[in-house]
Amino acid sequence: MKYITVSAPGKLMLLGEHAVVYNHPCLVTAVGQRMRVTAAIDERSNFTLVAKNVGIHGHEKPMSDLGKGNVEKNVRFVEIAVKNFAEKFPFKEGVRIETTSEFSSHLGFGSSSAVTVCMIKALSELFSVKLENKEIFELAYKTVLDIQGKGSGFDIAAAIYGGTLYFVTGGKEIKQLAIKNLPMVVGYSRVKADTVVLINKVAEVSKKYPVVVDSMYRNIEKIVKLGAKALREKDWITFGQLMNMNQGFLESLGVSTWRLSSMIYAARDAEAYGAKLSGAGGGDCMIAFTSDEKKQGVIDAITRAGGEYIDVATNVEGVRIEI
Ligand code: MEV
Repeated sequence: MKYITVSAPGKLMLLGEHAVVYNHPCLVTAVGQRMRVTAAIDERSNFTLVAKNVGIHGHEKPMSDLGKGNVEKNVRFVEIAVKNFAEKFPFKEGVRIETTSEFSSHLGFGSSSAVTVCMIKALSELFSVKLENKEIFELAYKTVLDIQGKGSGFDIAAAIYGGTLYFVTGGKEIKQLAIKNLPMVVGYSRVKADTVVLINKVAEVSKKYPVVVDSMYRNIEKIVKLGAKALREKDWITFGQLMNMNQGFLESLGVSTWRLSSMIYAARDAEAYGAKLSGAGGGDCMIAFTSDEKKQGVIDAITRAGGEYIDVATNVEGVRIEI
């Protein structure tokens, strides 16, 4: 049987969340925990999904029914990615998919985007359709928008290109920053956040105070641009200060939580260069930049504040074929 295995990394937002939904840039890094998809051709013209991590042991339907009916959340991204690919590049056969993840979907590392990217890449290999990264981006982004209606696509870009990116809404600009390692510590708040709920919450604030929020977004854009320069120059002190400023805006937008802010202040008290929440807020993870010397103290402080330290590599390779 012809089959292929593909993997793609998760992501963490460094600077610019929320503003990036509204035509501003952000900085994102790909993290060293990956989503894996094995796709095989099924002559019976059926779509089958096995995703043991999320309790799916054999979801099966005819290819002609893709996207129809009430599709369970854990199946949705895979199913709609297959549907979108098959609409653009029709094929007669069915596909059998198995997904595994090195990370929990609770962390906010972007498992849905990573699995969507894996799917498009795997199908393009399986059916010998040559796709550039930008074309994979367009199909994967369409899939995510079809399902959740909102999002900048930064997580898809991270899963495809890997490394650390300067990214503008919808992939208008995607620039790889030539850096190696980031001196980053990650703390999980032990609370699962819902991105769409938080985007809607910020939209409410913006509706009430459009002028204030717009000027915040423009300031966040300045922070992101200075942050890109600081990263390139390995100026961690400046980057840390910019993280703290960005956190101030996120607090103002109402997306930090007592737990996240406690972890962030604990990291700063332990002399991190800077700390902020990462992603939509409301839970998920916070990040801190720290010197090697202070790293253990920062980890201990985050843990004492109720967080869970997540040891993860940053700036890792994007989507790739596994042998
Ligand atoms: C969520 O991780 C980051 C947001 O900016 C949403 C997005 O960019 O898609 C809130």
